[in-house]
Amino acid sequence: MKNIVVLVSGGGTNLQALIDAENSGIIKNGKITCVISSNPDAYALKRAENNNIPTRIIPRKEFSDSIEYSKAILNALNEEKADLIVLAGFMTILDKCVTEAYPYKIINVHPALIPSFCGEGFYGLKVHEAALGYGVKVSGATIHFVNEKADAGAIILQGVVDVLNDDTPEILQKRIMENVEWKLLPKAVSLFCQDKIEIVNNKAYVRD
Ligand code: GAR
Repeated sequence: MKNIVVLVSGGGTNLQALIDAENSGIIKNGKITCVISSNPDAYALKRAENNNIPTRIIPRKEFSDSIEYSKAILNALNEEKADLIVLAGFMTILDKCVTEAYPYKIINVHPALIPSFCGEGFYGLKVHEAALGYGVKVSGATIHFVNEKADAGAIILQGVVDVLNDDTPEILQKRIMENVEWKLLPKAVSLFCQDKIEIVNNKAYVRD
């Protein structure tokens, strides 16, 4: 059974999808053993507490820079004996001290079709504002491994939704969450926990 540590910053609907998937047996061979939040007020912490999952708060505000913050995160991940780390709405870019310690063991959900609308500065509603601003006709979400460059690690799964004429960033965000993020993130986690993701030449292939 793999120890899954989930990093969050906000509402935690993706965390909830993971909790529900674990409870209903969709996640095989993995258990959420700890939730770490960068934000002491994140509602995601309540979701963890409601499900008796241990929590840690490591506030981003208390650290001078990303390197010092990442060292504290790395320490916690090591203490928790994490086999898999999931960034579920985690709004801080981690320094390479973390990504190098856990190669192909950190999974992120990004709310666009990478390589579009991604990288530094593209997070949360900003991603959907950019997609609507460009006028794309489809968008979606990407589940990918995390490396030292923002949103640049190997892609595991992607899913697509239509963009409609009257969409606002909020409406598009909700459609992508409901139709893609909440389904594909638990699926990718389960595949990882069953060792069904193979890496060849820095690309990820699902062997199901
Ligand atoms: C989700 O849409 C997630 O894809 C996005 O923030 C939202 C968090 O929602 N993540 C990023 O933009 C990271 N670059 P949640 O807290 O309800 O899961």
